[in-house]
Amino acid sequence: MSSTISQNVSDCSSTADMPDELPELVGLAIPRHVAIIMDGNGRWAQAKGQPRVMGHRAGVKAVRRAVTTAKQLGVRSLTLFAFSSENWRRPDQEVTLLMELFFTVLQREIKLLHKNGVRLNIIGDTSRFSARLQKQIITAQQHTANNDELILNVAANYGGRWDILHAAQQLAEKVQAGQMSPAEFTEEALAQHLSMPGQDDVDLMIRTGGDFRISNFILWQAAYAELVFTDSLWPDFDEAAFHHAVSVFSGRQRRFGLTGSQIEAIKTSG
Ligand code: FPP
Repeated sequence: MSSTISQNVSDCSSTADMPDELPELVGLAIPRHVAIIMDGNGRWAQAKGQPRVMGHRAGVKAVRRAVTTAKQLGVRSLTLFAFSSENWRRPDQEVTLLMELFFTVLQREIKLLHKNGVRLNIIGDTSRFSARLQKQIITAQQHTANNDELILNVAANYGGRWDILHAAQQLAEKVQAGQMSPAEFTEEALAQHLSMPGQDDVDLMIRTGGDFRISNFILWQAAYAELVFTDSLWPDFDEAAFHHAVSVFSGRQRRFGLTGSQIEAIKTSG
């Protein structure tokens, strides 16, 4: 049995030592890496008779709450889907507003993230963003580069297929240049060239907004993620909703292709 499987099975930390203020979470398994598809901003605003952009603004508040909750829970990596490779197809006005919002958020929130020991990491093809936004991304990442309380990955112009293709292209170039042999083109080598190398694979993927799909979000690194779907629209996703998703996660038996008894044996031996 591969050591990675037994490591995965026993890897998620437990809340046995959780501070008194979160009694409802005592004893739960805490996912090390949580990824969230933040859906429903537009509908949230429309239901209130407001323009869609107001939903994105309210979404920023929910982002702040999710980061605080993740840190409180002891999650190591939180990955948020802020803008997909396909979102460019939205009306020009909404795309422009989202770009402005990213810029403002990066500028405004970075000090708070830094103060809380959060490392910001933008994943995705940022080359399509304006020079101003790209510069802001670099500044924000550099500012928080040495923090280790929580890694906040923000997926911007990101697609799971793009991520895999990009990694495969880099390896193919190395093979062509004679720096590695085709036999060395392994799963591990590919994983090292994806976004988020060195971070845990995604344990829990949450999607808000009532739909049941992955929408080309993290594909490779979420191969064994537990999926939790909720009807809550993203601006309404609060600490209680996050805790609920974690308790659902904690109640699942993750088998990684093994049988239930094999998993129990690993747990008792480990
Ligand atoms: C999906 O809701 C949400 C987005 C495409 C944008 C998410 C952006 C934010 C929450 C703000 C910025 C965040 C960061 C981390 C900088 P939707 O518009 O597709 O909602 P709908 O399904 O109701 O139309």
